[in-house]
Amino acid sequence: MVSDKVLIESIIKLKKERNAIILAHVYQQGEVQDIADYVGDSLDLSRKAVNTNAEVIVFCGVQFMAETAAILNPHKTVLLPDKNAGCGLADMATDEQIINLKNQYPDIAIVSYVNSSAKVKAVSDICCTSANAINVVNSLPSNNILFVPDKNLGAYVAEHSDKNIRLWDGFCYVHEQITVATIKLLKDKHPAAQIIVHPECTTPVRHMAHFTGSTSQMSKYVKSSLHKEFIVGTEDNFVYRLKTDNPDKIFYPVNTLCEGMNKITLEKVKLSLENMEYVVSIPEETRKKANDALNKMLKL
Ligand code: 13P
Ligand code: SF4
Repeated sequence: MVSDKVLIESIIKLKKERNAIILAHVYQQGEVQDIADYVGDSLDLSRKAVNTNAEVIVFCGVQFMAETAAILNPHKTVLLPDKNAGCGLADMATDEQIINLKNQYPDIAIVSYVNSSAKVKAVSDICCTSANAINVVNSLPSNNILFVPDKNLGAYVAEHSDKNIRLWDGFCYVHEQITVATIKLLKDKHPAAQIIVHPECTTPVRHMAHFTGSTSQMSKYVKSSLHKEFIVGTEDNFVYRLKTDNPDKIFYPVNTLCEGMNKITLEKVKLSLENMEYVVSIPEETRKKANDALNKMLKL
């Protein structure tokens, strides 16, 4: 087996040869985060994908994230190191289902969470991430909103909006696995700990939290907090990011992993650059429409 040191050296060399940038989501395994040029949440990574001069973007994340980078960068090559790195939530809504609803309720504005397919984005009025979902919904002229596909994030937005929000019946299995009992157990063990959770968690879990936010918002909260201990209600690899950025603080993971995110390894990143695989390509008609929905979000 090739050692991590040799793999890292090969990745750095190939990256130069290909004029590539490596973007990694904060749910990536620690060693993958460490070789990335930029680590961030979905919104940060979309912005980074737009602003890079690199010709190749290696996206260490799941399909919808690499697709977003490809939609925003039609003249760059976007690579996903494992073509099966999927997001269970993104698979819970199809463009046909949304078109049907749009036909039934013509005055409804479709807000799609970026955790959705390119086709779903293409039939949406605007996209959002967990970091800007509340602002996106509140910025719309329409009073009637269909929020797709995460019902938990949608419920969180609804608590911070006067709009009439219809929820799609989708969820993230990684966050649904986090129960009130799990959080309570950790809190009993670590009474001084603050509870921070992602808005993809269920409403009862979210209501136990001291802070709810996207991964970047949780990072900021932890950095500026005077507290020293945190129960982290999201994917366990995020704890690696928090520990690296806050070595003086203690974090308690909730024991939940995203299968798609964990498919990406150093070996696959090297192979991806070596063989220029797997290229993410979106049919131009879909790309243009999805690009409009994403750009409306990025302009806010
Ligand atoms: P963030 O936008 O907070 O990075 O979340 C993305 C995600 O997939 C959460 O499950
Ligand atoms: Fe999708 Fe959930 Fe994984 Fe995020 S954690 S990528 S929403 S399956």
